[in-house]
Amino acid sequence: MALELLVIVASYLLGSISFSVLFAKFLKGIDIRQYGSGNAGATNTLRVLGKGPAIMVLVLDVLKGVVAIWLGTWVGGWGTWVAAICGIAAIIGHNWPLYFHFRGGKGIATTIGVLITLCLWPALLAGVIAILAIFITRYVSLGSLILVALTPIFLLVIGFTQPVLWTSIIIAAFAFWRHRINIVKIVEGRENKIGSKVKGGN
Ligand code: G3P
Repeated sequence: MALELLVIVASYLLGSISFSVLFAKFLKGIDIRQYGSGNAGATNTLRVLGKGPAIMVLVLDVLKGVVAIWLGTWVGGWGTWVAAICGIAAIIGHNWPLYFHFRGGKGIATTIGVLITLCLWPALLAGVIAILAIFITRYVSLGSLILVALTPIFLLVIGFTQPVLWTSIIIAAFAFWRHRINIVKIVEGRENKIGSKVKGGN
């Protein structure tokens, strides 16, 4: 039990490493949460710092989710609650980071890492549809929401274990909560489109 708790806490601490905040600080001496959409994530890094840093932030944030699942799997074995809770802990860390006054991102890159490691095919299918939606609408937030909403549905169709299904549902709830302002903006037609000038933080 102690080892299980240790890897769950380690996953939260790993998730708390906010790479967008660190890159913005070291590359430009700014707090990324004061710029663009105000979000500490890869999409806002693209707006504020450009493509190179954004790709690095995306990869590193995805890896946080992958490593958290590996940690949980190492201790608890495949298909267990330990891996699932480690993934959730990493996303909580990303969204509410211990080292950065609990003001983090919306968790999508880390969610991608968690989902592709826990349930590759449902996540990939949902990811393809999400990417198509981003190409068509240029709303990254809409693509993010499509990804998290479709993964549990594809799990139900393709096959699932209880820990993975519940993790995908909890992750979706987090993502919808973190994107609540994006949702209002999409409905009102005020959401930032990728590659366009920002219309204000959220
Ligand atoms: O992953 C975050 C993305 O879905 C939205 O980011 O900066 O446009 O609010 P942003």
